[in-house]
Amino acid sequence: MSQVEDCVNIINQSAKNFKPQVGLILGSGLGQFCDNIETQASIDFDQLPGFPIAGVGGHAGRLLLGRIGKTTVAVLQGRAHYYEHGKADIMAVAIQTLSALGCESLVLTNAAGSLMVDAAPGSIMLITDHINMTGVSPLFGAQGNQRFVDMVEAYNPLLNSKIRAAAHTNKITLHEGIYAWMSGPQFETPAEIQALKVLGAQAVGMSTVPEVILARHLGMPLCALSIITNFAAGMSPTLISHEQTIEYAKKAENSVKDLLSSYLKSFSEKEI
Ligand code: HPA
Repeated sequence: MSQVEDCVNIINQSAKNFKPQVGLILGSGLGQFCDNIETQASIDFDQLPGFPIAGVGGHAGRLLLGRIGKTTVAVLQGRAHYYEHGKADIMAVAIQTLSALGCESLVLTNAAGSLMVDAAPGSIMLITDHINMTGVSPLFGAQGNQRFVDMVEAYNPLLNSKIRAAAHTNKITLHEGIYAWMSGPQFETPAEIQALKVLGAQAVGMSTVPEVILARHLGMPLCALSIITNFAAGMSPTLISHEQTIEYAKKAENSVKDLLSSYLKSFSEKEI
């Protein structure tokens, strides 16, 4: 049996007849969102073969199954990053499992540095496209023509408009822009940030893009949010640190919670 089949069996034992409509992957410091979930089951990643051992502070490493309003959700509280193991496909089994469980779409969140002077720490940016600066892909070694994934509209326009509507309902300012994926774990140099600005990026971070590629490979529509935790290197005298990332992700937590709750509640059973 494959690892994905094993995971599905383990999950089905904990949450019988549960089919999540939406899968969510929560980045650093965003765990509080889960307070809004009527939880049916909670499974640690180490119980699920092939799931990552989430190792970075602010990441719980747990799969929650439950509901928000009438919408059923599967939430990955925590993720692994390319920089932890040098494996771009570290999230492959987790995302394939969400798809196999029946998730019809995904929401990805991350912490990111802002390249926009008007998007300060604590604000939220809807990712409309990305630039992969790492030179690697989670699909290295994949077989078949499906690996040549179309990445146009990878960030689904219909789901993006639902996020905009949820932001409007909650009177939350929503920035929009392009996310540049850097390998990390070191933060960028000011010269790198200058270069990313020239390339057209509005935010920079160390995650999400491999998950987007994996999800698109499976044909799952998705949307993604960056929680701005700092101005990017060279834009502010404040030293960039992981502690700052966690602190500002926490400051945005309430807005993210409201935004995602409205977004998820807006799903009728027939929609993606
Ligand atoms: N750069 C890269 N990753 C990040 C940043 C940043 O400035 N902030 C939070 N994650």
